[in-house]
Amino acid sequence: AELADRVPLIWLHLAECTGCSESLVRADTPNLDTLIFDHISLEYHETLMAAAGWQAEENLEHALEAYKGNYLLAVEGAVPTANNGTFLTVGCKGHTGMEIIKEAAEGAAAIVSVGTCASFGGVQAAAPNPTGAKGVYEVVNKSVVNLGGCPPSEKNIVGTLMYFVMFGRLPALDMFNRPKWAYGARVHDNCERRGRFDAGEFVEKFGDEGAKQGYCLYKVGCKGPYTYNNCPTERFNHHVSWPVLAGHGCMGCSEPNFWDDMADFEKP
Ligand code: SF4
Ligand code: SF4
Ligand code: F3S
Repeated sequence: AELADRVPLIWLHLAECTGCSESLVRADTPNLDTLIFDHISLEYHETLMAAAGWQAEENLEHALEAYKGNYLLAVEGAVPTANNGTFLTVGCKGHTGMEIIKEAAEGAAAIVSVGTCASFGGVQAAAPNPTGAKGVYEVVNKSVVNLGGCPPSEKNIVGTLMYFVMFGRLPALDMFNRPKWAYGARVHDNCERRGRFDAGEFVEKFGDEGAKQGYCLYKVGCKGPYTYNNCPTERFNHHVSWPVLAGHGCMGCSEPNFWDDMADFEKP
């Protein structure tokens, strides 16, 4: 497709682990190639672009100017705000993450926080949060879509980007600005072990007989009853699996402040 037919996408990396980008590259419907050759024009993405150094910096500056008002902005990672943002500087000119996100947000047609770090601060914001890490929505003056999850599934990322590409607007959101189509149901309500929960069949200890039988993981720390996400129905990695199917309880990774609020993740 011609560039004019594709939506420019600028993807920034702030304080993060790149797990959300890892999730993105596993997309299959459409896959990443179709996404970036037919539907979006990926103007800047630190782990996927060919450019490096000054050229990369120029590409970002060019995209911010040339597509002002029209680009979709995706952000991966929290924004460190303590000490005037100096815990994170990016690129050759030493701009702080805070400066970069504020400038990029100004000209964005829509902003999507990809993952719990960008959405709510994530692990960086866990107590005592020495860098003052915050979610993007806390530092910009615009509405931000939050794709909770550490990482969110490739379906939740690509589905949200494609919604904007197809309809020119953002999907309906829940109280934490997460798209309802992806985060509208509790993990617990679609879990394949739910029958075990209702029958009172619980794993009491990892590796016990109940664990071998696929019993419910609630007593060993599963936070599925308090977590909204589509992991049980959409799964990860081409529908192959998700945490509970793999034998570990849900950690509540799509919820705000889950590192603090949902601990202990495991009850031995
Ligand atoms: Fe990594 Fe999780 Fe943050 Fe994504 S949300 S960047 S996977 S720590
Ligand atoms: Fe609910 Fe977790 Fe048990 Fe599944 S494993 S039924 S999500 S408590
Ligand atoms: Fe996260 Fe729980 Fe899904 S830990 S990946 S929301 S099953």
